[in-house]
Amino acid sequence: MSSSANIFRRGAPLPRPVLDIAHRGAASLAPENTLAAARKAHELGADLWECDVRFTRDGVPILMHDATLRRTTDCHRKFPTRAPWWVHLFSLEEIERLDAGSWFNEVDPFGQIRAGAVPQEEQQGYRGEPVPTLEAALRFTKKRGWRANLELKPGVHLAPRLVAERVLGLIQEVGIATEVLISSYDERVLREIKRLDRELAIAPLVALRPPDPVGYLEGLQADAYHPGLWAFVPEDASALRRLGFGVNLWTCDAPDRLRELAAGGLVSGLFTNFPQRLEPILEELFGS
Ligand code: G3P
Ligand code: CA
Repeated sequence: MSSSANIFRRGAPLPRPVLDIAHRGAASLAPENTLAAARKAHELGADLWECDVRFTRDGVPILMHDATLRRTTDCHRKFPTRAPWWVHLFSLEEIERLDAGSWFNEVDPFGQIRAGAVPQEEQQGYRGEPVPTLEAALRFTKKRGWRANLELKPGVHLAPRLVAERVLGLIQEVGIATEVLISSYDERVLREIKRLDRELAIAPLVALRPPDPVGYLEGLQADAYHPGLWAFVPEDASALRRLGFGVNLWTCDAPDRLRELAAGGLVSGLFTNFPQRLEPILEELFGS
């Protein structure tokens, strides 16, 4: 398999100096990891959306952050005897019966309903929002001429090679290989992705700073570095950027910090639950 000109490859020019990466979609305004959240992020002008990928019992990749369905679906109502509702113990047919939107209206995880930023009709529309398959997410992204960062969560019941094969197979089938960046904490999956298609862009997620970030990325043949805020060291970012690696930092929502980071010249992208906050900052700094 080959996919030339992936825009997230090391050294490739980015659409703008800092990318607005909508974390789990526009997670402050719509239920995370759903097409509603992706749609909202796209409307807001985000450069791409990040989503979390896990596999059903029958091996279908779907979007879900947690290892269980409890927090972001009504699984406890539909399947009351299946606690703690591990994702990998549910079939696709069962997951398709779940409502992954109503919890957002009930919990208001970022206080944006209380703040009046989510109109009533949008809240109504979230009721019954399904858990998307990865295929649906990729087709949505492709149809909009947009981009995505797929975070492959550590597999529980599938070998890394199978995870990589299934995800890459879908990417190729949908024809979106040039617009996708794959990240993971699981280095084995990232290595398998590169083995199958060296033109695809990969990025390790870093919660604990590695002793030698440049050597680490080069060893993985990675294209970008994805540190958590607390693992972010400006000198690392500066060295990595000079060598052409992307540096995409997660997850920042505070307006002052977003501005400081966007203007600082050290990052190529910022993951935020509030793409609506980052967008005007980037437009002011870099133009629209
Ligand atoms: O991909 C960056 C970030 O999403 C990793 O953390 O827990 O939000 O998936 P988490
Ligand atoms: Ca994630």
